[in-house]
Amino acid sequence: MTIAASSSAPRSRPFGVAFAPATVTARWTVADGWSELRLDPLSDLSLSPATMIFHYGQAIFEGLKAYRSAAGDVRLFRPERNAARFQASARRMSMPELPQETFVAAAELLVDAQREQVPVEAGHSLYLRPFMIATEATLGTRPANEYLFSIIASPSGPYFSGGFDAITVWATHDYVRAAPGGTGAAKCAGNYAGGMIAQRVAAEHGCDQVVFLDAIERRYLEELGGMNIFLVVDEGGGPTLVTPPTSDTILDGITRASLLELAPDLGLTTAERRVDLAEWESGALAGTVLEAFACGTAAVVTPIGRVRHRDGEFTVGDGCAGQWSARLRERLLGIQEGVVEDTRGWVHPL
Ligand code: COI
Repeated sequence: MTIAASSSAPRSRPFGVAFAPATVTARWTVADGWSELRLDPLSDLSLSPATMIFHYGQAIFEGLKAYRSAAGDVRLFRPERNAARFQASARRMSMPELPQETFVAAAELLVDAQREQVPVEAGHSLYLRPFMIATEATLGTRPANEYLFSIIASPSGPYFSGGFDAITVWATHDYVRAAPGGTGAAKCAGNYAGGMIAQRVAAEHGCDQVVFLDAIERRYLEELGGMNIFLVVDEGGGPTLVTPPTSDTILDGITRASLLELAPDLGLTTAERRVDLAEWESGALAGTVLEAFACGTAAVVTPIGRVRHRDGEFTVGDGCAGQWSARLRERLLGIQEGVVEDTRGWVHPL
């Protein structure tokens, strides 16, 4: 395979705008199961307008990153967790499960073939976007009999243009992201499509992101539009990292799980419990909620400085990035980029 030479690297790269020139694919049919992985130059897909993905939306995806360490080597972070979640998403969406070792091999193949695409700039990485779509052309409402798995890659800088600057969020009472028994725990395209109107309303209120509340009572924090949420709370017993527990309405984030594991190393206790929006507001005003942040593969750890909702708004801490958010981000990125020793075997060298 011949891959076009890359152009010279820009100084700062917006998230997910430019794409590396290679892709890895595999196809599944009900008759033959999974094909071998293929590495090819990136090209457009040609699909019949009757293809099921366009009608019934069987589409799942993942997000993971290839990092370049200070020493120059290239590594992935916990790709086996993405592989397991991809299988869980597939099960929920009645799609075929890609073997976990094939998922990891596909990521390795793609990055290894274009190592020069992994940025050297601080805070940058090669963002990998594995996805699977239904490719059978029929209008029957049933799980498709043909699927495409592919990974594309985007050399990217921070997800938010402000980098580590605190963001403002809009807590919506009008739209929910997921309901019990629904698809909220799956990383499926429909969850993001359904959230876009709330994201647009958030932007109309001058906010960077939306915070979804639970579907039943419209009180409890769930997650943002593609990121988990954390608060740092101190009610007199020392700082605790608090996040809503995973459920069938909340995505089991890999950054979320990693931060929960790293927090005690930094002197933070952790609690997975429901948090009422009103408790967040009163705690922020009383000074017991010290910090809040969004986290995810793309967002890493992004502080939340201000919260707006239908009845008012409040500031978290001093409205800027707090010390715990900064320390957690530094520890996580340090492991990913090889500055901090990886004692848990999370780094997957290539
Ligand atoms: C990721 O963090 O990788 C995601 O898929 C979230 C998306 C909002 C970019």
